[in-house]
Amino acid sequence: EKIKVFAPATVANVTCGFDVLGFAVNAPGDIIELQKADHNEVRILSITGDNGRLPKDAEKNTASVVIKAFLEAIGSKQGIDIHLEKQMPLGSGMGSSAASSAAAAFAINKLMGEPMSMKEALPFAMEGERIACGAAHADNVAPALLGGFVLIRSYDPLDVIKIKTPEHLYSTIVHPHIEVNTKDARNILRGQVPLDKAVKQWGNVGGLIAGLLQSDYEMISNSMEDTIIEPIRSILIPGYDVAKAAALKNNALGFGISGSGPSMFTLSQNEKTAKKIGESMRDAYKQLGIGSDVY
Ligand code: HSE
Repeated sequence: EKIKVFAPATVANVTCGFDVLGFAVNAPGDIIELQKADHNEVRILSITGDNGRLPKDAEKNTASVVIKAFLEAIGSKQGIDIHLEKQMPLGSGMGSSAASSAAAAFAINKLMGEPMSMKEALPFAMEGERIACGAAHADNVAPALLGGFVLIRSYDPLDVIKIKTPEHLYSTIVHPHIEVNTKDARNILRGQVPLDKAVKQWGNVGGLIAGLLQSDYEMISNSMEDTIIEPIRSILIPGYDVAKAAALKNNALGFGISGSGPSMFTLSQNEKTAKKIGESMRDAYKQLGIGSDVY
């Protein structure tokens, strides 16, 4: 018995929603294949697309950690063999570890006869994030697992809400060829936020959600602002201001760091604009002498 599952890249934070907002994109993503085995261990048989960088040790790999936690929770000693195909760059801010964790949670649940709903399986996928970056944040795994746009209203207790989005909403992502480690990008953040900045930020979170629900592009655009995280993290991303200016000039509704970076994302109203934004950001990086990929 085996199963093959795709899980998508995700954009976490979505400007104002550090650790509480995220959405899934169509592509890229990761593919995982699980097979029931007659041993009683969780084993990683192969990983491709990672240039040999991901651990094959079942205690350290995000996918196997998720599967082990899941099997333990349902009291199963089922042996599982894993094949993992990484189809997106590591350390890119596009939720690479989350895609593997979400794919693993979805696949093991299906393979074991769906003992859990996706929301019940989510905490297991979050364990993969804990292994990957030291914090079990859900703003990548929740949209990777549930699809669409997601709000983590609360972590304790975990309360995840799917948010309806306008029929026409496009995201363009630029990934400059540099790497940012999520753990490092979390460690440089300050633990405290001044009240005036917090007021601005939660006003924007509410505005962004309201704008999405009402398909009000102007409200979405006005709300895509991050006064707390962007000023600190954008320093780690060469060309940030240039890419942002290029995107906004080409009618992006807004611009921000995707997750912990270095990828950056935009939202826009139609496909043509989304493509144009992508070209303008790629050109901006070309002029800076930095290679990039656009999704
Ligand atoms: N919310 C997380 C962070 C996402 O910004 O650290 C990491 O992709």
